[in-house]
Amino acid sequence: MKIGVISETLQGERRVALVPNVAAKLATFQVAVQADAGRQAGFTNDAYRQAGMAVEADRAALLSTADVVLSVQAPRLEDVALLQSGAATISFLQPATQGVVIEALAARGVTAFSLELLPRISRSQSMDALSSQASLGGYKAVLMAANRLGKFFPMLMTAAGTIPPARVLVLGAGVAGLQAIATARRLGAVVEAYDVRPTVKEEVKSLGATFLELELESQVGQGGYAREQSEEFLTKQRKLLAERVAKADVVITTAAIPGRRAPLLVTAPMVKNMRPGSVIVDMAAETGGNCEVTQPGQVVQVDGAWIDGTTNIPSTVPFHASQLYASNVTNLLQHLVSNGQMKLDFTDEITKGCCVTHNGQVVNERARQMMGATTSSQAA
Ligand SMILES: NC(=O)c1ccc[n+]([C@@H]2O[C@H](COP(=O)([O-])OP(=O)(O)OC[C@H]3O[C@@H](n4cnc5c(N)ncnc54)[C@H](O)[C@@H]3O)[C@@H](O)[C@H]2O)c1
Repeated sequence: MKIGVISETLQGERRVALVPNVAAKLATFQVAVQADAGRQAGFTNDAYRQAGMAVEADRAALLSTADVVLSVQAPRLEDVALLQSGAATISFLQPATQGVVIEALAARGVTAFSLELLPRISRSQSMDALSSQASLGGYKAVLMAANRLGKFFPMLMTAAGTIPPARVLVLGAGVAGLQAIATARRLGAVVEAYDVRPTVKEEVKSLGATFLELELESQVGQGGYAREQSEEFLTKQRKLLAERVAKADVVITTAAIPGRRAPLLVTAPMVKNMRPGSVIVDMAAETGGNCEVTQPGQVVQVDGAWIDGTTNIPSTVPFHASQLYASNVTNLLQHLVSNGQMKLDFTDEITKGCCVTHNGQVVNERARQMMGATTSSQAA
């Protein structure tokens, strides 16, 4: 079986799907990487060669001979046209925005796996790229905020006076939020956090932060994830949060509902009430934003506060993001392979959960719903 690793082409994407030290785990396969695929993440062609991988200058040759193609972002339409029928791809396929590519993969007879759809069960933790990347994102979001804030994070007692610690508010205490809390604490800030899932309270407290108790009912949905909240709930939540947002120097928002638009937690009037120079890093910028005035992909100043809508934050830590992603992808690949060949068992929850196209069809109901949601919102 031949595994091909292609260069990322999306602007700003600096990660690579496989790194040399993880590639050693795939030593029983023929593995080829596109020349310079790892350059922006800090992995040279020589490092791949030393790990036993071939370095292929011709992307088309790589795509047309590989049995499995690994990438971070979804393959492009022109890539799909080069794939062999019966080949497989593993990537963040983004069904909500890549419907056309997914239909093309199905038509081409390619079996495509989407890491966003991997069931998040104990057995799949080592393959969970959403978690590994969110964790890095949460860390980096705090550094971005600290860098922009015109204040110190830690308390400082000097002969010239005492500087109080920065106040950081983290909204959404899932994987990214917990890492943001830990990072802000390490930098010496006073941190408070809120999540609609009350079960995270103990984790928040164990990281040295205060869990905000709002007079709101729990919003736990299927599989322990948050469920989509009603507008009435969100209105009440925003009202209760307003005072905490106004007091914060930094707000890191990470709130998300799988497969849905991010909930709106910080309105324009709430931003107006923040102190000048305060910073919001909206990690949900790509899925609609938790803050009303966020501009995806941009940093804007509104009423004196900075709103950072940087997208694809994990890509700004490309070395370790690639290393963790490569481990996740390799673990998934090993799960799908038996005796050196891909053998798919659709009774297995992991395989069935993240396989999107197979035998000429889009076979995944969740992917279909996400693709459908985009098509109908585009039509509206
Ligand atoms: N393999 C596993 O068992 C596994 C893997 C990953 C995650 N998980 C669980 O799932 C949880 C969430 O995962 P995630 O970080 O990918 O979630 P996510 O990115 O979908 O959401 C981030 C957070 O936003 C919160 N949120 C949603 N609406 C909100 C609102 N209105 N106000 C405040 N917070 C809101 C969610 O509860 C969640 O904690 C994890 O903390 C973990 O408990 C389990």
